[in-house]
Amino acid sequence: MRKSFSFIKNTLINIWFGIKTSFLASKKYFLLKCLVLLSTTFIPLTTIWLWQEILNGVVAGSTKAVFILLIVYLAFKLLTYLLAHYDIYIRMRYVNALTMYIENVMIDKTSRVDLAFFDSAKMGDKVRITRSNFEIMGSVAWLVFNIFSAIINVIATFVIVTTINPWIGILTILFLIPFFIYDNKHTNYMWEMEEAQTRDDRKKDYYNNAFYDNNIQFEIKLNKLTDFFLGRYKEIWQRLYKKRTKAGILHTLRISFFLLLNFLSELLMLLFSVQGVIAKEIGIGNLQYNISMVARLREQSIELIKNVNWLMVNNVRLKSLQEFIAMKPEYEQCGKRIPSSNPRIEFCDVYFRYPNCEDYVLKNCSFVIEPHERIALVGQNGSGKSTIIKLMFRFYDPEKGMIKLDGIDIKEYDIYAVRRVFGVLFQDYVTYCLPLREIIALSDFVNRFDDGKLQKVSDISGVTEIIKDWPDGFDSVLGRYYADNGKDLSGGQWQLVGLARAYFRDNEFMILDEPSAALDPIFEDRIFAQLYDLSKGKNAVIISHRLSNTTLADKILVLDDGHIVERGSHFDLLKQNGKYAYWFNLQASKYV
Ligand SMILES: Nc1ncnc2c1ncn2[C@@H]1O[C@H](COP(=O)(O)OP(=O)(O)O)[C@@H](O)[C@H]1O
Ligand SMILES: [Mg+2]
Repeated sequence: MRKSFSFIKNTLINIWFGIKTSFLASKKYFLLKCLVLLSTTFIPLTTIWLWQEILNGVVAGSTKAVFILLIVYLAFKLLTYLLAHYDIYIRMRYVNALTMYIENVMIDKTSRVDLAFFDSAKMGDKVRITRSNFEIMGSVAWLVFNIFSAIINVIATFVIVTTINPWIGILTILFLIPFFIYDNKHTNYMWEMEEAQTRDDRKKDYYNNAFYDNNIQFEIKLNKLTDFFLGRYKEIWQRLYKKRTKAGILHTLRISFFLLLNFLSELLMLLFSVQGVIAKEIGIGNLQYNISMVARLREQSIELIKNVNWLMVNNVRLKSLQEFIAMKPEYEQCGKRIPSSNPRIEFCDVYFRYPNCEDYVLKNCSFVIEPHERIALVGQNGSGKSTIIKLMFRFYDPEKGMIKLDGIDIKEYDIYAVRRVFGVLFQDYVTYCLPLREIIALSDFVNRFDDGKLQKVSDISGVTEIIKDWPDGFDSVLGRYYADNGKDLSGGQWQLVGLARAYFRDNEFMILDEPSAALDPIFEDRIFAQLYDLSKGKNAVIISHRLSNTTLADKILVLDDGHIVERGSHFDLLKQNGKYAYWFNLQASKYV
């Protein structure tokens, strides 16, 4: 009882959500649709009534009345036809407006939610379900419209039929109950099957898309893998197809039984009306009218049942869409303070683990970066170096402990102002399909036409050498996603472009997270030498595996087991003869 109450409550909330969203998406088309809906509800009833009067007039031989009625009848028919076309047009415009609206809401949300959101599988599912709900929203708006129209129709025709014969009215509704129960089960079954097959569907798409992916196509040709990918694709396709066909056939058979049962009411009305005609109580027009009304009652009730069942099934999807829209980014709840351009950064006993992960990445992690200090952060793979950078950007917040900027909790600062303090090159480079000018200037987009500045950062980062033979220079498009003659870059070259972007923002505080991963040693040395040079009197954090790159830093922090185990200059640390000295000597021995 309680369960069904909350189910009804959810359904009503969803209906309200559907209507509200539809209205907000486009007030104009929403109102137009309501107008068309009202007309398409009442015009058919009027035309059925007109037809009754025409037939009765013909039997009674009143030519003039019949002629006038026929003209009105034809006018109504024409109107119905025009409205049906107009309805299709409105629907098209309306669904466009709705998709645009929801897509905007989604993009706005995803651009504001915390990065942590994307780390969690559960949240990932939510985004997936929500994205697949774009079309659902469109159809929910329509479902709600259809349900309203069907309710008005059912009530109107039920009243008309019961005034003709109360028993037939009641029986028509009773005959529909088994259909309602069956349809509810069937709709649920189809939805469950769709859900259960999502993974297989995605797998099928994966094998299919492999043929259109440049890199995989390369391997397919190299290893003659066509049969392998096609075989997998066909196998899944057949499995899905078999199950769906079976469900389809069974449904057709079962539904015929219910249609026969529902047809009984029309049969009853036919017997009842024929009797009336024979007894001369009603005219032939009334006979036609009575049967049409029962038929309409039946059709509209079926429409109502189908739409209501479908709406109930969509509850789950709509709920996730609503939850997504209602979500509040946690980390973006920040203060208004604006940090200085090279603040003193302090990690105080920071504990951190990624969302839904058990193990702490940082434990009791404390260190200070003084203004105008160049820091090197070293540690083994996975020791948490990149994580420290992400915390400085407030992509995540510590679970315990505090990060301070100039002695004040980082949460008291405006989050975007904090992020603007640093010029950064992250470890994982990102490729874009855009003109080079825009790719470099993404960090400070208003200055994208400042060719002098573009040239300066390209010289520093080594991009100038990549583009020296490109006729279009900074206006060359990189990547081939939409550009036939887009330029392809190697991984190392992409990183140089990323470095140019990091410098383009003119920050006092530079962070480079393993920029050397995809670079050749000559470029690597050059980049680090340049960075030390450029950041004199400024701040820098450098993360590198090659410890020869870190020797020049003012302070080296050695990260192990989630916290800083050694700190000091290169020579201090060699003297300490601890972890750093061991790693350094190990690497140095390879170059002897
Ligand atoms: N988004 C994430 N979700 C869960 N675990 C993560 C995530 N990013 C990194 N980790 C884990 O956190 C640890 C530290 O990662 P990271 O800071 O990237 O190491 P480093 O940069 O020192 O190589 C690793 O064990 C890594 O697997
Ligand atoms: Mg890293």
